[in-house]
Amino acid sequence: MSRHDKILVTGARGQLGRELAAALSAHGEIFAVDRAALDLADRTNIVRTVRSVRPLLTANAGAYTAVDRAEQERDLAFAVNATAPGILAEEARRCGAVLIHYSTHYVFDGAQRTPYSESAPTGPLNVYGASKLGGERAIAHVSASALTFRTSWIYSLVGSNFLLTMRKLAAERDELRVVADQTGVPNWSRALARATATLVSRGNAYLAERAGLYHMCAGGEATWYEFARAILGDQARPRIVPITTAEYPTPARRPAYGVLDTRLFQRTFGFALPQWQATLKECVTSAAEPPVGEAVG
Ligand SMILES: NC(=O)c1ccc[n+]([C@@H]2O[C@H](COP(=O)([O-])OP(=O)(O)OC[C@H]3O[C@@H](n4cnc5c(N)ncnc54)[C@H](OP(=O)(O)O)[C@@H]3O)[C@@H](O)[C@H]2O)c1
Repeated sequence: MSRHDKILVTGARGQLGRELAAALSAHGEIFAVDRAALDLADRTNIVRTVRSVRPLLTANAGAYTAVDRAEQERDLAFAVNATAPGILAEEARRCGAVLIHYSTHYVFDGAQRTPYSESAPTGPLNVYGASKLGGERAIAHVSASALTFRTSWIYSLVGSNFLLTMRKLAAERDELRVVADQTGVPNWSRALARATATLVSRGNAYLAERAGLYHMCAGGEATWYEFARAILGDQARPRIVPITTAEYPTPARRPAYGVLDTRLFQRTFGFALPQWQATLKECVTSAAEPPVGEAVG
């Protein structure tokens, strides 16, 4: 890619989208579009936007991510998470562009007790997971130059995420009850954006040769309880109490275990993301998240 090539970033107001728009700006001219500029539930809007921007690379960070609400909004979740990635892949193929897409460990049922490989059988427990799996399949169905990166538990200093929820509740309460029987890997959106930028810096031909599905994730693993303790540190207040999933019922079921095996990513691209604890430390001492990039109408 040269600095004059166009890069389309969807979901530009999201945790990952705003970081991608910043991290990829060294590698091309960024067109960062939020939901108002590009509604991923609208096929005509997607096609019109891609054909007018004519990006050499699209990074699709837009997604319907309201996991519990998705149980009631199945059609919308599928339109954004399953249908839209397929349309983006068709448009990328049409103009010889590369598509980078993100998926989730929620495509798995969480019954395993060892990290999931890319080829492990899927079995989503909720509508969100099923819709994201639909997106992976829609992309795989189009023979485009597309890379799909599954990841898990994204946090940042903006938006709606576990880190900010814990900080807010810690300021309000003496005791926090946190689920200790779900295991995953926390990922700072900036670390995912940096890893993506490293790959993008290697050029479209490099990416096209490695089209496929990969697990892009920090090292290590944690329960929500352990993640909460790492966020809040050793302070005396609030007391953090481990509880079971059964004690914290939610409309959507979550996998009990969602650690992703990243060895294929490491073998293919030659590097690993740092351990989640180191990344969390960097996040909490970092400057605020970058502002939303330039949007096209
Ligand atoms: N968050 C996690 O823990 C997690 C874990 C694993 C994988 N992922 C995946 O990683 C990617 C990035 O997630 P994230 O954490 O950055 O999510 P996020 O902060 O919720 O951002 C998603 C963005 O998509 C936008 N969006 C929603 N519906 C849209 C529509 N119809 N048209 C256009 N944009 C729409 C949202 O806009 P509004 O702000 O207007 O709603 C939001 O800005 C997604 O593919 C997600 O599925 C996330």
